[in-house]
Amino acid sequence: MTLTFNRRIFLGSTALLVASPAILRAQARTLNLYSSRHYDTDEALYSDFTKQTGIAVNRVEAGEDPLLARMQSEGANSPADVLITVDAGRIEKARGLDLLQPFASEALASRIPAHLRDPDGHWFGFSTRARVLLVAKDKVADGAIRTYEDLADPKWKGKVVIRSSTNVYNQSLTGSILAAHGAEKTEAWAKGVVANLARPPRGGDTDQIRAAAAGEGDIAVANTYYFARLTRSEKPEDKAVVEKLRVVFPNQGDRGTHVNISAAGIARHSKNIDAAKAFLEYLATPSAQRYFAYGNSEYPVVAGVEPPPQVAAWGAFKQDQLNARVFARNNAEALKIMDRAGWK
Ligand SMILES: [Fe+2]
Repeated sequence: MTLTFNRRIFLGSTALLVASPAILRAQARTLNLYSSRHYDTDEALYSDFTKQTGIAVNRVEAGEDPLLARMQSEGANSPADVLITVDAGRIEKARGLDLLQPFASEALASRIPAHLRDPDGHWFGFSTRARVLLVAKDKVADGAIRTYEDLADPKWKGKVVIRSSTNVYNQSLTGSILAAHGAEKTEAWAKGVVANLARPPRGGDTDQIRAAAAGEGDIAVANTYYFARLTRSEKPEDKAVVEKLRVVFPNQGDRGTHVNISAAGIARHSKNIDAAKAFLEYLATPSAQRYFAYGNSEYPVVAGVEPPPQVAAWGAFKQDQLNARVFARNNAEALKIMDRAGWK
């Protein structure tokens, strides 16, 4: 068996790991990574870890919910060593289901800013994405909209495009507003946003960006990497979208722009704790940070590592320092508030 062996197993196929003790022993130099990141570029990140440590990475990929359901049903027999997901709301959900175990790492505590990791060490953010406004350059003057709160200003009636409240990114954003303003004001805000919608929510973040460029609304709300993808595209229709829009980082005059994370933690029943710890600490090294952030055009979390050029081009910005666990735990209440406000 070669130690650099690296394979991917997709859940939903029949080829699933069976966690017999013999297999677990045979895989002593293999890290079982349960991932809901589905970026091909992550492959380079994982093979670099294998090169440095001799530990092969066996990646099991699936959507968030099937992945968590699988870990739950596997229970103590789960072969999972590390869980990696996007959005704090999702990794915190895994912690809530007792699928993660804490890791006290000085290396991670010193390299990852405190607001981007669980204070109890169940998960750590390894890259960030900002939830920003993409505004039509020809319709929205510089400085005309500055905050998330402004999205509810009646002057933008019929001008806002944003996806559904069922989406975790919006639940986390609303969770951050809840932390800043409390339930009553957050509900008033959500009602204001709904009143300003150019159309009922539909599609993903990229669809909102395209709608704003097409004149369906003047202001789209989206995560930075979606816009970054369009800036990298060679397609004329994508270039036209990018040409029409400007990135606005909200709340630069007060608490800062809401950022979310790609995060990882050690699985509760990992049989390979040392490999899992080595893997998490590897993810915070400068070279891994570059792979990690460049793979999906995100921001690195470790100081001194520059973001990808198409992301750096928008300039530096102030981040909301609210701990990701706070807005993650606010997700459920945020969704109830959005429901009451009629946010589909
Ligand atoms: Fe996404």
